[in-house]
Amino acid sequence: MELEVFCILLLALMVQGTLSATFTFKNNCPYTVWPATLTAGDKPQLSSTGFELGSEASQSINAPAGWSGRFWARTDCTNRGRFTCATADCGSGQLGCNGAAGAPPATLAEFTLNGGGNQDFYDTSLVDGFNLPMSVTPLGRPGCRATACQANINSVCPPELSVKSNGRTISCKSACVAFNQPQYCCLGEFATPDKCHPTNYSRIFKNACPQAYSYAYDDRSSTFTCSGGANYLITFCP
Ligand SMILES: *[C@@H]1O[C@H](CO)[C@@H](O)[C@H](O)[C@H]1NC(C)=O
Repeated sequence: MELEVFCILLLALMVQGTLSATFTFKNNCPYTVWPATLTAGDKPQLSSTGFELGSEASQSINAPAGWSGRFWARTDCTNRGRFTCATADCGSGQLGCNGAAGAPPATLAEFTLNGGGNQDFYDTSLVDGFNLPMSVTPLGRPGCRATACQANINSVCPPELSVKSNGRTISCKSACVAFNQPQYCCLGEFATPDKCHPTNYSRIFKNACPQAYSYAYDDRSSTFTCSGGANYLITFCP
């Protein structure tokens, strides 16, 4: 190989290397969770699309430069021939979600890496409801802010939004998921940010978790940015 070509390849690898991100998942819940990953659009899935994470355990996954997608965690999973979970199940029947999204309600962490120049965009979202507390912490970039939904919304979930198992609320639907009406889902005549407003239901989520998206056109304070190629810690029950 010519030296010039070699150098260009090496440089390309280094740029790719610095802009890719490592996501480390940490489970601070006193119970096992089963995190899942979903790449947006038609891009390849990450090396893992679902795994088991015992209490206090952690695991890392690399994402390439420009990656965008979401993370969530499933709870109360069992494998009786088919792998299924009581919350945020992706319906694959397996540990890996293999490109399938989790069924709401599910707390989400959403990312777009290198979305504009060197900037990463990230948020925590309750637009699809809540199943467990979750945080996103940028690592190695002191100027970048963490975002979280730290409250256990299951304990303040109104009955008409609650998903129960054995009398216990295991997840909390958003009003959009529960009622599928335009004013809650920002659809139809409510399909623009100036027409879709907070509702008595979205306020329950916003009061408990001010940093997280509580409905589709929640204010911009819910989107966070970080420049310069950070890595990220995703914590369940932070
Ligand atoms: C929210 O508003 C709807 C419609 O006005 C009402 O039926 C419902 O009881 C309210 N729920 C809460 C939790 O305030």
